[in-house]
Amino acid sequence: MTLNPAEFRKAMGCFATGVTIITLDLDGEVHGMTANAFSSVSLDPLLVLVCVDHTTRTHAHMHEKKRFGINVLCEDQRAISEYYARPARTHEHAEAEAGARFDRTAHGTPRLHGALAYLECKLHSAELAGDHTVFIAEVEDVVVSDGDPLLFFRGKYRKVGEEVRK
Ligand SMILES: Cc1cc2nc3c(=O)[nH]c(=O)nc-3n(C[C@H](O)[C@H](O)[C@H](O)COP(=O)(O)O)c2cc1C
Repeated sequence: MTLNPAEFRKAMGCFATGVTIITLDLDGEVHGMTANAFSSVSLDPLLVLVCVDHTTRTHAHMHEKKRFGINVLCEDQRAISEYYARPARTHEHAEAEAGARFDRTAHGTPRLHGALAYLECKLHSAELAGDHTVFIAEVEDVVVSDGDPLLFFRGKYRKVGEEVRK
């Protein structure tokens, strides 16, 4: 059996995830990228990982800046996910096109308004893995809000359904 990328993607699409926006400060401008290859890694120390394609601009920015935010999207933020999944040269229309507004953390990292959770991340290590890099980061601060997440499953955006009872 020779496995091809389409079959691999189909299988991985069965693994329902949330959706995040990675945010970085670029000399006062907000840079963002949609990412769902995100996971918790360790409790001591507090580590998370995100896998980023080598061809994205975000990949270079993360190596250079070594600090970024992870914003977990709320169910009403689909337009923001779509906006930051486009390889636009600048993100100056983020508010007008997708309703994305930001403030800054004490570290100057952009934090998305209305996100379900925010994690302030400092780069710990970066591991080359095929055409992606696994960025592992120490989480220095979090902000958690009420609400329900935007989900991504089989290539489509979804909402949380009913609780599965015993
Ligand atoms: C739901 C969703 C999840 C995504 N997850 C990732 C991811 O985890 N890693 C990645 O490298 N790209 C991911 N992408 C693709 C990037 O968002 C896309 O390539 C983006 O245009 C890169 O922007 P940049 O070149 O400005 O950094 C995802 C796209 C979507 C729609």
